[in-house]
Amino acid sequence: MNNSIPVVSIDGPSGAGKGVITQRLASLKGYHILDSGAIYRVIGLAARKDGLDFKNQSGLVELAQGLDISFRGTGDSENPLSVWLRDQDVTREVRTNEAGVDASKLASISELRLAIRSLQRSFKRSPGLVADGRDMGTVVFDEAQVKFFLTASPEARAERRYKQLKDKGIDVSLPDLFLSIQNRDLSDMEREIAPLEPARDAVIIDSTAMTIDEVFYFVLSVVEEKLG
Ligand code: C5P
Repeated sequence: MNNSIPVVSIDGPSGAGKGVITQRLASLKGYHILDSGAIYRVIGLAARKDGLDFKNQSGLVELAQGLDISFRGTGDSENPLSVWLRDQDVTREVRTNEAGVDASKLASISELRLAIRSLQRSFKRSPGLVADGRDMGTVVFDEAQVKFFLTASPEARAERRYKQLKDKGIDVSLPDLFLSIQNRDLSDMEREIAPLEPARDAVIIDSTAMTIDEVFYFVLSVVEEKLG
């Protein structure tokens, strides 16, 4: 395990602002990004395209092991990475709420989580990594030097997600989104494998009453203090 490469993990429920903080921090530090949720989303999409039943665990594991996924730079600072499956740009498809629900179902399959572990770890490259997810600091990068658990009230998170999806031109109803986010959080927290919880050594941030700038500068101050 190479511990000289810095890893900052940012875990927490959906809509807490992890994605934006990850992007801003990575761009300021010149670090790589791991959007681990996108991997589960892409597996769901690939399974649907292949007509693979979500109950077919061995088929899903096989699919995940041979997954032809890549993240490519877009040059856009707000959305720096596009997501590709088998040479097709699926960035928009994977961001829908339905893709999130599919991802959450697949994420409770322990064999599948193990099957993508080395793919996730391969993102740890010099000069450093910011890893966004649910189990980055607890499981995948247990050795991370700086760990955050970013959360906010369910209402605030549903509203932020609603705005994000609307801005991307994705149509969704706020009450439906609120329910779906609540169900997804519950299943992420209650699953047996890698449940959503703060790492013992995580800095916990409740961003309900904070602006994204306030969260970012707080995160940055902790990172600078710990990594120099
Ligand atoms: O972060 P995002 O909303 O893209 O994640 C989609 C789903 O993937 C989450 O609700 C969660 O069930 C799952 N996930 C996970 N572990 C991660 C990242 C995402 O279980 N590290």
